[in-house]
Amino acid sequence: MSYQNFIDLNDLTKAQARQLLDDAHQRKAARAGLPKGTVDPDAPLRGYALAMVFDKPSTRTRLSFDLGMRQLGGETMIINQAETQLGRGESMSDTAQVISRFADIAMLRTGPHEKLTEFAKHGSIPVINGLTAFSHPCQILADLMTFEEHKGRLNGQRIAWLGDGNNVLVSFIHAAALFDFELAIACPPDFMPPQAVLDEALASGARIVVCATPEAAVTGAACVVTDCWVSMSDDPATAQKRAKAFAPYQVTQKLMDLGDAAIFMHCLPAYRESEVAAEVIDGPQSVIFDEAENRCHAQKAILTFCLNTAGK
Ligand code: CP
Ligand code: NVA
Repeated sequence: MSYQNFIDLNDLTKAQARQLLDDAHQRKAARAGLPKGTVDPDAPLRGYALAMVFDKPSTRTRLSFDLGMRQLGGETMIINQAETQLGRGESMSDTAQVISRFADIAMLRTGPHEKLTEFAKHGSIPVINGLTAFSHPCQILADLMTFEEHKGRLNGQRIAWLGDGNNVLVSFIHAAALFDFELAIACPPDFMPPQAVLDEALASGARIVVCATPEAAVTGAACVVTDCWVSMSDDPATAQKRAKAFAPYQVTQKLMDLGDAAIFMHCLPAYRESEVAAEVIDGPQSVIFDEAENRCHAQKAILTFCLNTAGK
């Protein structure tokens, strides 16, 4: 069977990325008003089974993949690492080969990115990155979709990222090389995204501006994005150091007002009065729940893309 993994956005061509986004928009429009549990009329993944492996917690990724797969006509199986032999040290290589005998496609949420690539190497089914310590491409596809719903096509627009140079930002940087938007980044010096990721994106034509202050990044931005200050794969003991370094990067209303009628995005879970002021995340510029919903629509496009059934 020919298939495509979905490990990182920089594995895609510009045409594939645009096609995924268009498909996500279309899939959402096609089911407007339908009860959430209704199967799509074309049921493109009828008979297919998705295995989801979680070795980190999740609310949105779990629900959105589960519902999305069912809407596509398929089945889902959820594996929590602690309750499986993976938790007792069974290798990812053996696990991938076993899961490949039971499922047609797999989604992994894990810490080390290598676990995901190990699965892809040894399994014989497509694998989707449901977040690693390195990247979170499903989130960014949903975020780009949300952006376009509220602000129109990405071309020529400015998106500002404030705070941690983490996994979500890495996928935004990958996206900047695929779509023609400007990404303005303001991160504390000790928490910059990996230089190799920036260099690769810049070399492929991404428009990325590294800004010295949050004010510089948000000025003229159509969208302001942030994320938590301590990610799941970070050492919790660094929380205090992080809180101190990130405090000037909190998304406040004053910063939002420097944007161009900017929307506010956050992948969630969020911590009010840490990375974002409550009045911003709970205010009229916030589109956080559209982002959460769009995980489902975007991932349906990803699932069909991986199984080569897009358009069928
Ligand atoms: N944004 C996101 O991936 O949420 P979960 O951790 O709840 O899946
Ligand atoms: N950066 C966060 C994203 C959570 C969805 C983390 O990795 O914990």
